Amino acid sequence: MRFEEFAEFIGTQDGAPPKAAAQNAPPPSDIIGAMVPRVDGPLKTTGVARYASDYNFPGLVYAVPVRSNVASGKILRIDSTAAESLPGVLLVMHHGNVIPLYRNASGGRNSENRPPFEDETVSYWGQYVAAVVAESFEQAQAAAAAVRVEYEPAKFNVDASLSDTLPPEDQPGGPRVMSHRGDPDAAFASAPVKVDEVYGTPVETHNPMEMHATVAVWDGKKYTLYESSQGIMNHQTVMAQVLGEPKENVEVVSRFIGSGFGGKLFPWPHSAIAAAASRKLNRPVKLTLSRKMMFSNSGHRPLTQQRMRLGATPEGKLVSLQQDYRNHTSFGDDVRENCGEATPFLYSTPNLKVTSALVRRNVGTPTPMRGPGAVPGLFAVESAMDELAIKLKKDPVELRLSLDTLIDEEKNKPFSSRHLKECLQMGAEKFGWSKRTPEVGSMRKGDLILGWGVAAASWGANRGVCEAEVNLRCDGTARVGCGTQDIGTGSYTVIAQIIQDKTGIPVSKVDVVLGSSTLPPGPTSGGSTATSTFVPAIIDAANAAVKVILTVASTSKASPFAGKDAGSLALTEGCVHEKNKPADSGVPYEQILRGANLASANGNGKSGGLAADPKSRNYSTHSFGVQFVEVEWDPGIAHLRVSRVVSVVDGGRIINMRTATNQMEGAIVMGVGMALFEETIYDPRNGHPINDNFADYIVPTIADMPQIDVHFLNIPDPLLNEYGTRGIGEIGLAGVAPAITAAVYHATGVRVRRLPVKIENLLASQLTV
Ligand code: MOS
Repeated sequence: MRFEEFAEFIGTQDGAPPKAAAQNAPPPSDIIGAMVPRVDGPLKTTGVARYASDYNFPGLVYAVPVRSNVASGKILRIDSTAAESLPGVLLVMHHGNVIPLYRNASGGRNSENRPPFEDETVSYWGQYVAAVVAESFEQAQAAAAAVRVEYEPAKFNVDASLSDTLPPEDQPGGPRVMSHRGDPDAAFASAPVKVDEVYGTPVETHNPMEMHATVAVWDGKKYTLYESSQGIMNHQTVMAQVLGEPKENVEVVSRFIGSGFGGKLFPWPHSAIAAAASRKLNRPVKLTLSRKMMFSNSGHRPLTQQRMRLGATPEGKLVSLQQDYRNHTSFGDDVRENCGEATPFLYSTPNLKVTSALVRRNVGTPTPMRGPGAVPGLFAVESAMDELAIKLKKDPVELRLSLDTLIDEEKNKPFSSRHLKECLQMGAEKFGWSKRTPEVGSMRKGDLILGWGVAAASWGANRGVCEAEVNLRCDGTARVGCGTQDIGTGSYTVIAQIIQDKTGIPVSKVDVVLGSSTLPPGPTSGGSTATSTFVPAIIDAANAAVKVILTVASTSKASPFAGKDAGSLALTEGCVHEKNKPADSGVPYEQILRGANLASANGNGKSGGLAADPKSRNYSTHSFGVQFVEVEWDPGIAHLRVSRVVSVVDGGRIINMRTATNQMEGAIVMGVGMALFEETIYDPRNGHPINDNFADYIVPTIADMPQIDVHFLNIPDPLLNEYGTRGIGEIGLAGVAPAITAAVYHATGVRVRRLPVKIENLLASQLTV
């Protein structure tokens, strides 16, 4: 659907979405929305792409951290004599001899409040207490094992139950009201139909393919940090503060990233350790995290426990909705997992309350993981909705359709673009939902029992500030620079598509330069906001560069358009031509540049955040989606698998149908992991995340993959930017786990309210075939 059609379309919807924003927006060309393969694909498949730990420099040495083997206490003594006498060892760095490292007050976000080695306190198992630097990695590893650390151990708590009876010192800040309207208690008390259950999600650890690494190069004046970062500009800002340097003395480079899932949003202490060691030794230092370290030292999705209370009339009107959640956090920071993100606006209800509380545990600091807050939160909300539908004897799709609202009842504003209803309808049709029989265990396929479940999803939509530069070069190629990064999701490709759309220079002739903090500041790849944020800045820069070409075309003596008004000219399909004539009547833009002896036409672009747009104040902006799931339960051998997922997403206009579909497929894989496998378990004896490896922390494999069917509504949200594109990095995971547990209930009669679903849970099923 073209933009104008969309403007007309939304004009007929309830809630009066912002028609004004769509005015004058030219329809994008066919490259926007196309299945363009990743432009960086060949670099990755041929091994040319360099990831953080691939950087090597003359004189490079290796750092290996020494980690605490107590979960709480004080370091009494660090004996490095044996380690220092080993071959190749250059430095054993710890609290006593590290260069000054500072806390962060930059406005940027750090993962932990404390810099590494700040004092003798230990508050989680695996905390860095020292680091050994040696000529080779093996020498550093051997020496790290030889460092003797004496502790005065203290009491610690890694309890995975977040009960109501915790001592107040374990609950920083006390419970907080996150959202409140009407009188939910009274409405719940008098509701004829009630659900009152507690749901829980475990600690999950980010396991991107590429592990964290820093190669730090101190050159006597400035630091260059080769990182695996989802946010190079934030990394620069924060590390400048931690290292006590002006920003221009810290350059961050992240050209290729093997994903992050949120674990690489903000700097972790290893970055400062590598930088400090480089400065102390005056040598380039490489520090790579092992998979094991990733379970303690670079974040996790925190444990959540959520009490849901839903009250309804027998007809299915939702009269009261309450969510009281708590999540664990560390002693290093107060991290609130915003489990109530979607609760206040997903369904229509007059009475609602969401409260949040933190509980301290002796664990590494939690950090956002794909869909932080909303994903574990929706597990509780959507599970409770499924339980409500069963109590009401209503179809769960019908119940959700009947509670849909085009007004955000929390903010009392219309949504800029909400099409949950269409998602539910399209999903039901693609999945074949009408063939579902609601009785538990009623659907069979040979020796298997089928379970069908559904859940809705939502994730925020937003746009930040961004700058970009575009050079249209006289050899017919273009260069785009932006201080953002491609975490594997397709930013390089999408940016090249924008240039092709605006200039006609084909994607194959566009060099997209990302991943250096020396570039014009661009967004963090987080919160599903990078694309919506860089789109307007890159369009702005491209338009500025085009304007330069048209001005040159109207003034340069060699130009066939000399003397014409620049405003009467256009650049389309790479050709400068008169606006009222077709593109092929004109001349290639590079001919215009060469005729004026110009290497390139350059444009700078800038765009403000969504909050800077006064129109945005009138609307609530979110993405929506729905997940339909089929599971197969074999009661004979107690075997469960997810066999089919249909996912429909309302994420605005899709720029690249291939990378976007890949995002959704990856999210479904992750959702299968969340529902059935993933859980970081802390050893109650010592606080060690005991399954800190790929043998014991189970992630889905090819054998666990369902048949996946992804659909996008592809309806532009004109509030966000000219293309109407929102972000889609996170919405695809939302709703997968509760749809799976709903399907598991339908197949087995067992309601699993605490993830992951274990075969032990399902042995309670009485069904046979
Ligand atoms: Mo996402 S958790 O903002 O990488």
